[in-house]
Amino acid sequence: MPENVPLDFLGDLRRTHSCGQLRATDAGKRALLMGWVHRRRDLGGVIFIHLRDRDGVSQAVFHEGTATEVHEKAELLRSEFVVAVEGTVELRSAETINSNIPTGEVEVVVDKIWILNESRTPPFPMEESVDVSEDARLKYRFVDLRRPRMQRNIILRSKVSFAIREHMVHDGFLEIETPFMTKSTPEGARDFLVPSRVNPGMFYALPQSPQIFKQLLMISGFEKYFQLVRCFRDEDLRADRQYEFTQLDIEMSFPQQDQIFAVIEPLLKKVVALAGGGEIETPFVRMTHAQAMHSYGIDKPDMRIPPFYCVEDLFGEDAQLTSPGLPLVAIHIPNVGTVTRRERDELKAFGQERGLRVYDDVKRLDKDFPAEMAKVRERVGCKEEDLLIVCGWSGEPKGQRPEETVLMACGQLRLQAAQKYNDRHKLLDPKVYKFLWVVDFPMFEWNEEDSRWVAAHHPFTSVLDEDIDKLTSDPARCRAKSYDIVLNGVELGSGSIRIHRRDVQSKVFTAVGFSLEEARKRFGFLLDALEYGAPPHGGIALGIDRLVMILAGETSIRDVIPFPKTAKGTDLMCDAPSEVPDRQLRELGIQLRKQH
Ligand code: AMO
Repeated sequence: MPENVPLDFLGDLRRTHSCGQLRATDAGKRALLMGWVHRRRDLGGVIFIHLRDRDGVSQAVFHEGTATEVHEKAELLRSEFVVAVEGTVELRSAETINSNIPTGEVEVVVDKIWILNESRTPPFPMEESVDVSEDARLKYRFVDLRRPRMQRNIILRSKVSFAIREHMVHDGFLEIETPFMTKSTPEGARDFLVPSRVNPGMFYALPQSPQIFKQLLMISGFEKYFQLVRCFRDEDLRADRQYEFTQLDIEMSFPQQDQIFAVIEPLLKKVVALAGGGEIETPFVRMTHAQAMHSYGIDKPDMRIPPFYCVEDLFGEDAQLTSPGLPLVAIHIPNVGTVTRRERDELKAFGQERGLRVYDDVKRLDKDFPAEMAKVRERVGCKEEDLLIVCGWSGEPKGQRPEETVLMACGQLRLQAAQKYNDRHKLLDPKVYKFLWVVDFPMFEWNEEDSRWVAAHHPFTSVLDEDIDKLTSDPARCRAKSYDIVLNGVELGSGSIRIHRRDVQSKVFTAVGFSLEEARKRFGFLLDALEYGAPPHGGIALGIDRLVMILAGETSIRDVIPFPKTAKGTDLMCDAPSEVPDRQLRELGIQLRKQH
């Protein structure tokens, strides 16, 4: 270690500038910079290092001739050493200006150096261009987070959180905390449980969301609540799912649906602009769930790709292109150009695996149904260089809503085809932000496993006024006062107007097969609260990880979470989950069963 800096602290050294700060106008000034050795070039008599901190990179120069001792020390520097350098800021000659970095017009000619800490050889280079396995990145996350891409993402996340808080507070919302150790909540995933030491055999559940608490806060009269809050769900992990994730959770008293939208739209407009995404148009497009299914075959349409069209009405009954009573769908992807036989076969197989009858070779259909196909092309708006695939259903109708089954399979094929040819049509541009509200979701979903209806959103969601009589008589057709906000095919958030009357709440519990006793056991405190002057209320929760992921141009939320879990749910850095000592289990009254 250098003799002039005491171990573990900085002495009286103070930074004068950050590594990203120096400009031509600083020439002639003294500067003391601190940071990490990002890169080092040794040209014999001169050593150049790129010194990096959060703010950027500066070049420091060590001349053997004029500062021999300092140059000698610079010879010891290796990647990721932590140093302080002091010297004079000098303009670079025209031919050595580095226009890739904002500080590139100047360099610090160093006459003092302190090595503040050494570093083992990093497990991977800091350069963005080097591809590193995700496992290595997660094991050495503290190093990975130093890399420019992760620095950008985490800094963006911080800015987004701050902008959200500022916006919400200005809009009259109160940030109120709710408990993490609580009782099971109703979002439909598995709970993470926390054993209670003082009540052996009893468990808290970590909240899947603060849903019930935020409703209680409305009943308590706070009127406008928000929280940037961690939620916990034990569900299979994917690129857009983690066990713990962050929501912007919102609840309002006396709201109309459009008043909730009017909170979210300007907020997202601000956040997109902040992330460099420019001016997005508001109000966002609104579409009912039924329309979304009918035109996109999915409840979270990616509006960067054109819709598909149902075209069975253009063909006579005897055409028999699809099973009786089921849709015939024309999927259209613009600007695809020539498609090889093999590519067509791949798309066909993809559709067939999902039960579709795929007419991948529309030339055949053109021959057999020339007039009809001309009308299909007209409806779809299909040009010569576009890809057109027509799909029907083969075999028996499937599911509680068979038409939906067909449309969903077509929706998957549409996305598959769009992704396959994105390098040609370039519609899936991550810098294009297409927001959409999907409204009037079905109130219930059929659960095959238990053969019963379950709440599609959660069981505190109101039913559309005109569907209230269908609650028990025709649940399949019952629509909810619920809505999703979708961005580029990703479900960004969900919400609903809630039930605020005890009698209606009991009816919905009955409809989803909760006995009154079961409902009381799980949500009795909410049922009680509904009897003490509950105002009409409603809200929404946005997934912050997903929002930042899209704004950062990433495709996995792991890249915008500082310390995420792997797809298998492990933390490779901390080595969690892990076994615990027997004594700890005994204290909790827990005995492990043998794993088979
Ligand atoms: P919901 O369950 O739809 O609604 O969740 C809202 C939003 O949270 C995000 N999200 C997730 N993000 C990352 N990993 C996960 N495992 C995960 N699960 C959900 C999504 C989703 O749209 N209490 C209701 C909201 C309300 O009704 O106000 C709720 O939690 O972006």
